[in-house]
Amino acid sequence: MSGKYVPFGFNIVLIGFMGCGKSTIAKALSNLFAMDVVEMDQLIAEREGMSIPEIFDTYGEPYFRDLETNLLIEMQSKKNVIISCGGGVPMREVNVREMKKNGKVILLTAKPETILERVKDNHDRPLLENNKNVDYIAHLMEQRWEKYQAAADIIIETDGKSAFEICEEIIAKAGQ
Ligand code: S3P
Repeated sequence: MSGKYVPFGFNIVLIGFMGCGKSTIAKALSNLFAMDVVEMDQLIAEREGMSIPEIFDTYGEPYFRDLETNLLIEMQSKKNVIISCGGGVPMREVNVREMKKNGKVILLTAKPETILERVKDNHDRPLLENNKNVDYIAHLMEQRWEKYQAAADIIIETDGKSAFEICEEIIAKAGQ
């Protein structure tokens, strides 16, 4: 199945709330299309030589947000990559402008209950560390929804779907 399809000819930018499945879908799409994945959090952590929680602790959130913006600007020189964005990336207008330059922006959504289930045993997300409950997730999601939606070219609901089904939906909608 690897590399079965011809790449899209533009970048695929995956956005959405923490735990909505961006990394999983980025990997699955990269297998289908032989496109490289840029996992923003992972690349930032590698370059800084520390984990995301350590970056937040040491330098604060605005520093991390600047790293995200700089990385997105840098990514505009790339073609045919899948960019898996951290959940906060679409909150900055400049980031949305950058991601739209070469990319089709795909918003993955999931219910707060689904998100909680996916993130509950993970400790890499400072914003959720002491807030692992449906109310907090639902509230933050609501605060972000308008900007998520405004950034998105395509919106895909992921609840109850397999990674393959989600990829099929992306292929059908992104190819149009
Ligand atoms: C964040 C999402 C995280 C990471 C950081 C902040 C956010 O990425 O960038 O913890 O503000 O939503 P994931 O969406 O990949 O978990």
